[in-house]
Amino acid sequence: MQTQTPITVTNSRYRLGDHLMAKAGWINDPNGFCYFKGYYHVFYQHYPYGAEWGPMHWGHARSRDLVHWETLPIALTPGDPEDQDGCFSGSAIVKDDCLYLLYTGHHYYGDNDPDHFWQNQNMAYSTDGVHFTKYAQNPVIAQAPADNTQHFRDPKVWQHGDAYYMILGSQGQDQLGRVILYRSSDLKHWTYLGPIAQATNLQTEGYMWECPDLFELDGQTVLLTSPQGIQAEAKRFLNLNQTGYFIGELDYQQPQLVDRGAFSELDHGHDFYASQTTLTPDGRRIVIGWMAMWESVMPEQADGWAGALTFPRELTRVGKQLRMKPARELTALRTQTLTDTTVTLEATPQRFQPTHRQAEFKGQLDLTTTPAVVTLAVRAGAVNVTLTYDQARGELTLRRSDRSDARYAQVSGQPTALTFDLWLDTSSLEVFLNDGAVTFTERFYPQSQPHFELQSDQALSGHVQLFDLTQQAVTY
Ligand code: FRU
Repeated sequence: MQTQTPITVTNSRYRLGDHLMAKAGWINDPNGFCYFKGYYHVFYQHYPYGAEWGPMHWGHARSRDLVHWETLPIALTPGDPEDQDGCFSGSAIVKDDCLYLLYTGHHYYGDNDPDHFWQNQNMAYSTDGVHFTKYAQNPVIAQAPADNTQHFRDPKVWQHGDAYYMILGSQGQDQLGRVILYRSSDLKHWTYLGPIAQATNLQTEGYMWECPDLFELDGQTVLLTSPQGIQAEAKRFLNLNQTGYFIGELDYQQPQLVDRGAFSELDHGHDFYASQTTLTPDGRRIVIGWMAMWESVMPEQADGWAGALTFPRELTRVGKQLRMKPARELTALRTQTLTDTTVTLEATPQRFQPTHRQAEFKGQLDLTTTPAVVTLAVRAGAVNVTLTYDQARGELTLRRSDRSDARYAQVSGQPTALTFDLWLDTSSLEVFLNDGAVTFTERFYPQSQPHFELQSDQALSGHVQLFDLTQQAVTY
């Protein structure tokens, strides 16, 4: 067998300081997000031998506080009979002091057609959270059920009562996307219970629902998933695939997600996909996503790496809408307060200059006078991300200098203030607005130190803060 050499990073110009990336090589979806024996663990889809997607491994990092991360050895390597061509996405669960990973084995039929594949479900386990052993009797689910196509992947497992449940991203024989449910008493033997939610229309709900996650949030069931094939509208569903959610109630008897309502996008930016959640010991629901999208151009590929995960975010529910805010632990990244002041905005942009490429810019603007058009920007010469809030239209528009396609979000109600919290990290920008009601996640590629700008077509007052952040919170 030929031995391969892992790729290395040749230029660190776009490397992030405080976000999870691989030491080098490609990453996509977060996997196995969990809390085990005093550490948060995040795994991720990883190809260590190139800066493109390839046979998927599970990269691994852990953290005591959701802020500082330590990279651990690769947890899963493909190539065994049960996962011949890839260890695809999956989840983690703790049982009897042991950490179990449930993941999809990917298999090609060998005719060089990338769409000609089959998938099964497998398990691995660890008692120290560092070294993993594949279960000797893999696979735990050998094949897709008869009413399914070959799209059968991304298990998410949880416990309810004294049973374990697994949902999988799937496509039914009717070619519609859906999520299917299994039950087990021991994580090893699984019984198929059927679909719990399915697309009713190919154009509006898609042909395959990837990376499902299901959890209770404040008395309702949230089904998070990443459908493929939803058709773009003028201002919605503009990425190749979207990550979003349904809110309803899981009836375990039928089983079915009842009253699930319409699909809503979780984030409005260009670069957010395949998110996964876990619970903190104090009961908060934390979500983390892949900070990229399949169609995104990734200039860092020229430097020997590609992809990063978002900051961990707290998820809350207000009615049928989810909100995402930076995990409260992240304030520990602040090293210095550069600005903490009231401001009066006007047509001439005001400039706020952080020291490094890791910075947080936060504030609240008073919108009680005349309807305004407010612009918030991050600029480094010609490279910029610009967010405009047109108060009269209740519309947010985000533009990026390296892309011709804008992204949009509506602001519901008539808020009397605009709150913002922008987190910059070398080549990423995460935007949280109005207490997490709207978020935009972006990668962008400045060639020099950026600054923030604020302006408005009407005079308005507000309060802003600018913080420098730690430049290196992740070790490799
Ligand atoms: C989502 C996805 C998953 C799959 C993985 C493969 O981005 O397509 O459905 O398990 O990526 O890397």
